[in-house]
Amino acid sequence: AAIRLADYRPADFVIDSVELDFSLNPTKTKVVARLALRRNPAGEAGAPLVLDGDDLTLIGVRLDGRALGPQDYAATPDKLTLAAVPDAPFVLEIETQVDPSANTQLSGLYRSGSAYCTQCEAEGFRRITYFLDRPDVLSVYTTRIEAEKSDAPILLSNGNPVESGDIDGGTRHYAIWRDPFPKPSYLFALVGGDLGVVRDAFKTMSGRLVDLAIYVEHGKEPRAGYAMDALKRSMRWDEEKFGREYDLDVFNIVAVSDFNMGAMENKGLNIFNDKYVLASPETATDGDYAGIEGVIAHEYFHNWTGNRITCRDWFQLCLKEGLTVFRDQEFSADMRSRAVERISDVRGLRLAQFPEDAGPLAHPVRPDVYQEINNFYTATVYEKGAEIIRALRTLIGEDDFRRGMDLYFERFDGAAATVEDFLSCFAEASGRDLSHFALWYSQAGTPLVTTSEEYDAAAKTFTLTLRQETPPTPGQSEKRPVVIPIALALFSENGQKLDLASEDASARELARGLIELDRPERVIRFRDIPSRPVASLLRGFSAPVRLEPAPASEDLERLLAHDDDPFNRWQAAQSLALRAIFARVNGDGAASDARGLTDALRLLLAKAEGDPAFAAQALSLPSEIDLAREKGSDVDPDVLFAARQSLRAEIGRALGEALETIHARFADPGAYAPDAASAGRRALRNVALDLIAAGDADKGRALAQAQFETAGNMTDRLAALATLAHLGGAAREDAFARFYAQYAGDALVIDKWFSLQATIPEEATTRRVQELMTHPEFSMSNPNRVRALISAFANANLTRFHALDGSGYDLLTRVVLELDPKNPQLSARLLSSLRSWRTLEARRRELVETRLKHILAAENLSADLRDIATRALG
Ligand code: ARG
Ligand code: ZN
Repeated sequence: AAIRLADYRPADFVIDSVELDFSLNPTKTKVVARLALRRNPAGEAGAPLVLDGDDLTLIGVRLDGRALGPQDYAATPDKLTLAAVPDAPFVLEIETQVDPSANTQLSGLYRSGSAYCTQCEAEGFRRITYFLDRPDVLSVYTTRIEAEKSDAPILLSNGNPVESGDIDGGTRHYAIWRDPFPKPSYLFALVGGDLGVVRDAFKTMSGRLVDLAIYVEHGKEPRAGYAMDALKRSMRWDEEKFGREYDLDVFNIVAVSDFNMGAMENKGLNIFNDKYVLASPETATDGDYAGIEGVIAHEYFHNWTGNRITCRDWFQLCLKEGLTVFRDQEFSADMRSRAVERISDVRGLRLAQFPEDAGPLAHPVRPDVYQEINNFYTATVYEKGAEIIRALRTLIGEDDFRRGMDLYFERFDGAAATVEDFLSCFAEASGRDLSHFALWYSQAGTPLVTTSEEYDAAAKTFTLTLRQETPPTPGQSEKRPVVIPIALALFSENGQKLDLASEDASARELARGLIELDRPERVIRFRDIPSRPVASLLRGFSAPVRLEPAPASEDLERLLAHDDDPFNRWQAAQSLALRAIFARVNGDGAASDARGLTDALRLLLAKAEGDPAFAAQALSLPSEIDLAREKGSDVDPDVLFAARQSLRAEIGRALGEALETIHARFADPGAYAPDAASAGRRALRNVALDLIAAGDADKGRALAQAQFETAGNMTDRLAALATLAHLGGAAREDAFARFYAQYAGDALVIDKWFSLQATIPEEATTRRVQELMTHPEFSMSNPNRVRALISAFANANLTRFHALDGSGYDLLTRVVLELDPKNPQLSARLLSSLRSWRTLEARRRELVETRLKHILAAENLSADLRDIATRALG
């Protein structure tokens, strides 16, 4: 049934405190929950008590100590109803039994390896006990866990440890945890198991000492060092940048290998996909290190943006996620290179969020209706949510933004808030009316900003026209103009930045170089412009919009050379590459000459020493997904692939010597350091290798083979393997076999081995993926493994996934249907790989449509999968 934002009403009951008592057992875990309940003055008087459940087995119920009989309540696996409860506060004691070993959904209490762990967001707590499982019911939790010592020597829950000890002569033991901060049930967590631990401590700004611990599989302790370091840096950063201090005596992180998402911010007990904790130079790439730093920070930052201030209902998910992504992006920008971080964040947005916003799964950053909330943990809620916050900061300025954040923390601490609550703080701090800005939250679709320019040499004026339009999205056919902050600068021909003077923009806009496009069109005539200028627009990607048309090629070359905004310098290189690729797609011989681009890149390579990470980004061509999105309709992935390859080959040939110089000069110095500068050098070297191979396969193979042999770290090793994978032949198969032999049993590395094979752009790959599914190390029960093989195939191998014989779609369909009864969150997520199917050319569209209908016709589909398939068909 559809849940609607408009239907929100407060809960009829308040749960002041919760006492949980777990007896862990692999198949029969006993859970006793004692809830201190009272009627909510804001709820409906006399309403029955209706608690949420999911797949629960009820053992018994007591009210104020008295055992209730079946006549007193109605219990089903998904609901517990008490028609008559006292008007005075009362205590309800509920005993349930759950089977963690049979919980393959990885929601609620489940087992990962031999450990017990939980995932309660969004609605997993109701799979543990009956509860008012909604984020606006905040309670203080005390958790007692007991278990066989041999089964679970470590027992963890939220908050601070209170007490622990032996029972039954020492074969069993227990631990009691108490979390003094009222929280919603989705932040509950429990872990039990035999785990190794790395410990450290952090002194907060007010001088309190916090014990830090990261729990990992025995033997993996040395791989948790970087995560611990990232945690301490996150704690310090949140104090310095937002004045936010940690609030418990302990902060625990547990890494598990079976996890549906990246990680979870449970109060005081973060549970992580081990992919975002474990790293060593031999097993993790620079990208993995950056991912760990970002996700550790993200979950830690949730302690304030999510936990201390939580969400009133799940429609407000972006309130915590968009804001926390914004915060983790800022953290990474401060830890690494701000420019490179911005470029990769925008790359990610365009790769995942723009296609979502342009397709049948489009939804507002704050949706107003959902069937299954798990399907709304999307790039739109997270990444576009973060962009809106960034645009808000750009609009009101850093100082007012910080004041607004302070107000938010002060005013809503301990509350379950809404997007309106959040915005009200910035309206107050800035003195601006933000009601129009708020439209970003409710209107879906990526606005398209079109520009036109006119220079009048006689009058020395430059006229810039900016127009905006947002395309229709499902359920929203009419769109209104939004508030788009467009950062701009004008450059003279020799690269001088010009003063902005105009009667058509406010003094504030001109001083800040920030035009506020809040209506369908603005025409701004700049005066005193001595010669035709080059406009640098949407600097720093100041708003999540598409901007068209790209400047003329000569202007792009100038921007690439002179713009002092690194984002737009990178954008200029991308735009030049896009132009060269589409000239090939369109068979435009004259325009397909990429000399302008290769000359510009040669210049960039010559100066690469100054900022190798930036040079690596500039040399990375738009991806096939970027090309499909730019094309917009009638997409033939084969054509786009061929055009892109052809440009890569041309660049490789044109810059061959310069690339080889780079590859040699930036060789692995021996000792690996994960810092951004070292990573940037490796990134540049490996982009160079890839382009060399595109231009000259033999040379590329020789260099890649040598690099594969001698690499002292996983970044260089994997990059060499990727190059070999694309070159094919015996060298490839040999390298894959040796890689496997070396890392067999090391799950996170073997995931890479599966992924790379799934992305080989050759016809035989689909068969290869099918065969890999029967490999002894493949498992449908491990989400990382499924994503490594199947998501890689569906999202990073477009020509094979979209093969004209339908074999790629068939593969996805089979996997999705097989997976669905086991793990619906994962099956639904996999099917979202088809988010852009309507932009395909007609034959492929028909193939997809048949598969989607086939899926919908299957029996016993999960709500998750049914929702995605239904919306995808539209
Ligand atoms: N709140 C988590 C995070 O972003 C994500 C948890 C999502 N879980 C889920 N089952 N949908 O850090
Ligand atoms: Zn989050």
